[in-house]
Amino acid sequence: MIVRRNWALRLSVVFNICVLLYICVHFRSGTWIEDTSNWENYSEASNDLQTNSNNNNNNNNDNNNNNQSSQITSRLLNSIEGRLLGKLISKGKNKPTESIEASKTIENKEQTSHKSETGQNSSLFLSGQESSPLVQPSAAAVSSPLSLKDIIKCNDKSLEARIAQRGDYWVLYNYVPMSIYVKCWESVTYTTHADFTFLDNLEPLLQRWQAPVSIALHAPGTDFQLTLDSIRYLRNCGSPLVSQFTTFHIYFNSKHVPKAVPTSEKVLAFEPYNCSFGPPWSHQNVINNKMYKNEKKLLYPVNVGRNIARESAITHYILASDIELYPNPGLPDNFLEMIRKNNHPALSKSNPKVFVLPIFEVDKKSLPPTNKTILIKMLKAGTAIPFHKRLCSICHNIPKGKEWQEAPETPDLSVFHVGKRTGNFAHWEPIFIGTNNEPMYEERLSWEGKSDKMPQGYALCVLNYDFLILNNGFLVHRPGIKFYKKDPRRDMLTDKTNTFIKKILLPELKVIYGTRKGCVV
Ligand SMILES: *[C@@H]1O[C@H](CO)[C@@H](O)[C@H](O)[C@H]1NC(C)=O
Ligand SMILES: *[C@@H]1O[C@H](CO)[C@@H](O)[C@H](O)[C@H]1NC(C)=O
Ligand SMILES: *[C@@H]1O[C@H](CO)[C@@H](O)[C@H](O)[C@H]1NC(C)=O
Ligand SMILES: *[C@@H]1O[C@H](CO)[C@@H](O)[C@H](O)[C@H]1NC(C)=O
Ligand SMILES: *[C@@H]1O[C@H](CO)[C@@H](O)[C@H](O)[C@H]1NC(C)=O
Repeated sequence: MIVRRNWALRLSVVFNICVLLYICVHFRSGTWIEDTSNWENYSEASNDLQTNSNNNNNNNNDNNNNNQSSQITSRLLNSIEGRLLGKLISKGKNKPTESIEASKTIENKEQTSHKSETGQNSSLFLSGQESSPLVQPSAAAVSSPLSLKDIIKCNDKSLEARIAQRGDYWVLYNYVPMSIYVKCWESVTYTTHADFTFLDNLEPLLQRWQAPVSIALHAPGTDFQLTLDSIRYLRNCGSPLVSQFTTFHIYFNSKHVPKAVPTSEKVLAFEPYNCSFGPPWSHQNVINNKMYKNEKKLLYPVNVGRNIARESAITHYILASDIELYPNPGLPDNFLEMIRKNNHPALSKSNPKVFVLPIFEVDKKSLPPTNKTILIKMLKAGTAIPFHKRLCSICHNIPKGKEWQEAPETPDLSVFHVGKRTGNFAHWEPIFIGTNNEPMYEERLSWEGKSDKMPQGYALCVLNYDFLILNNGFLVHRPGIKFYKKDPRRDMLTDKTNTFIKKILLPELKVIYGTRKGCVV
């Protein structure tokens, strides 16, 4: 009996060695990749492996994993290559790392040889094709152990239209969705809020961003129709980037419901807008401030819009911004390339982190700079200045801001400095690339009352966020430098807001997020 078992064991060892040798020969001669029939099953299996290893990470119960791996094993047994993997998986039942390693190698191969599949439509939404990790994986991409998809573990999201209530507001989510679909790890979404009179910013923004935009439009009462017309004008009469990349959401207070709200399908099927009418925001009524919102003296619920746009973004990384702030071109690609290369120690630290973009203003006659080299020249010439220098410099001063302005542009996007929202920067309202894991915006605050980003800033501080300031990324406000203008109504609302924050909100925030030395609202 024992002798026979030994024999069987020896035989199986010999057989395994043969299998290994066979595979090595395959690898060398390159038939591995040419053998497309096997390849098909292979990549399919690798996808499953991917989910399997993700499950391991999520601490799913062992039973489930075993079941999955045995399914994969049986599928793989068709091919010799599969046999080796099968062994890896069954051996690795208690050691998930092995199957993760295996899947990493496969994933990489898949990326290099099947790039055309994912790259097909990529050219539409990636501007810097040469440096793009998707369209043409660079030499670095091939030798790097992980692809973006591996690093950014995220779930794809739907662009389906949906109606919901949110506090006092009705929300038409994904009312007019963008026409191309992007996977959650493939790009970065610019999320923002506006009413239709700000939509003249959309095209200049898209020209620079060239990636998804998720925008929530406040459209109460009769402003709704003008908002619809503005969307149609932009989609029919402007750049194709609008319909390719922009998802419009609409919201209004339940006390200010418009007369009629067509379904999302009906809106998409509307007759094209007659472009000779011009954009609705340039009409005389609008210029004379006869908007519904103004006639009814409604406050602008800025943070309801911010949160709607943020939550609806279909990518993992988002830039939650204000529509008048234009990023420097190429930022989404360069940002993802930085994440993939992991080129700074601060990127792999375990602290929660966001990626800050310094903000600047340029005078009315100047074009917003397209790269840091031009920006530095303009700062020296005085045609550009740090944002709100004249209004609220403590809100937007960044740590090491002066050094940032003196550091010349470098080829790669990377981390310039890691700051905290404490000390001189305790009231900082940074704008940053982050994810939907960051605390949301406080929906009881209005734009008119100001301090609308302060509660989020407090939460980020208490949660010990690192603020990674990007070296070659920045935002520029649409041309025209702002000066202080007296507005009694706004001053009254600001006082009210400050009292609300002090008496009601801060005690709440302390309960919800706790406290930390140096953190203030
Ligand atoms: C892939 O595997 C399935 C069994 O899971 C098999 O029926 C099919 O023929 C294989 N395809 C190729 C192209 O080898
Ligand atoms: C294992 O997978 C099979 C086939 O997919 C399924 O029918 C069965 O319920 C699974 N068992 C467990 C324990 O998950
Ligand atoms: C690629 O883009 C075209 C046109 O924008 C679209 O019709 C097609 O469905 C897209 N294909 C994929 C795979 O997304
Ligand atoms: C668009 O409007 C202009 C003038 O307002 C009119 O002359 C033209 O016929 C209209 N075009 C269409 C396609 O309706
Ligand atoms: C910045 O932009 C200017 C004008 O487009 C260009 O001449 C210059 O080469 C750019 N600098 C860098 C470092 O890309």
